[in-house]
Amino acid sequence: MQAILDVKDLSKTYIVKKRQNNVLRNVSFSVLPGEMVAIMGPSGSGKSTLLYTVSGMDPLTAGSVHFMGDDISAVTGNRMADIRLNRMGFIFQQMYMMKNLSIYDNIILPAYESKEVRGKAARRAKNEYAKELMRKMEIIDVAENDINEVSGGQLQRACICRCLINEPDIIFADEPTGSLNKQASADVMDEILRVNREGTAVLLVTHNVRVAAKCERVLYITDGRISGEYGCGKYEGEQTLRDRERVLNNWLLVRGW
Ligand SMILES: Nc1ncnc2c1ncn2[C@@H]1O[C@H](COP(=O)(O)OP(=O)(O)O)[C@@H](O)[C@H]1O
Ligand SMILES: [Mg+2]
Repeated sequence: MQAILDVKDLSKTYIVKKRQNNVLRNVSFSVLPGEMVAIMGPSGSGKSTLLYTVSGMDPLTAGSVHFMGDDISAVTGNRMADIRLNRMGFIFQQMYMMKNLSIYDNIILPAYESKEVRGKAARRAKNEYAKELMRKMEIIDVAENDINEVSGGQLQRACICRCLINEPDIIFADEPTGSLNKQASADVMDEILRVNREGTAVLLVTHNVRVAAKCERVLYITDGRISGEYGCGKYEGEQTLRDRERVLNNWLLVRGW
């Protein structure tokens, strides 16, 4: 199977006040269509930077990233915007929604911006899909609220609806449950898992072992390198989640978690 994301010898260097910071060094991995991969590692190890560079939000310093066959560094302007809008979904913690739009309008906006959604019928279908997502994420009651008239959990669930509106092939998520309480985290993870089961690949940064235990693979990053990789297999209930957590936890402890 051809990888949806293929990363080879990726390096990223930031230069701050003439000092070089080699944040990512020779990182190689790939993600298959429909796969769910977790990225774990200590704070400052380069996890967020990895997500930004492989998704084309931030330029890479060396190496290559291919997304669905396209060399990310060679793709420019409209084509890149098109890929980001229609093929990729983003759930980041510091995600900014448009302040002067309602929750509903924020969610539907990417659909209206997409050239793939043309004509009244297609737009109507997207409106219905937006409502369906909002019902599932239980934020339909706040659809018309302003973004500062909802809770943090509701806002994060709205971000997920927005991320899914154009039915991406892959979702990049950076600690999507990091700022949420237990119940809100479980809801957000359930939705990400559901979408993954329907075939969307997921690359997810998390500090939460329970969340990572639901992934098929875990990449452990230390100091900008992949220092360990653990294949957990698809989470299908043949092994209880608690068993998966226990095994993963032991694996992490060996790595200095
Ligand atoms: N835009 C930036 N400019 C300069 N340095 C940065 C930038 N973003 C991140 N860094 C540095 O890169 C390193 C890794 O950061 P980050 O990827 O956010 O780590 P993590 O997500 O694993 O906590 C840190 O040393 C951080 O200071
Ligand atoms: Mg981070």
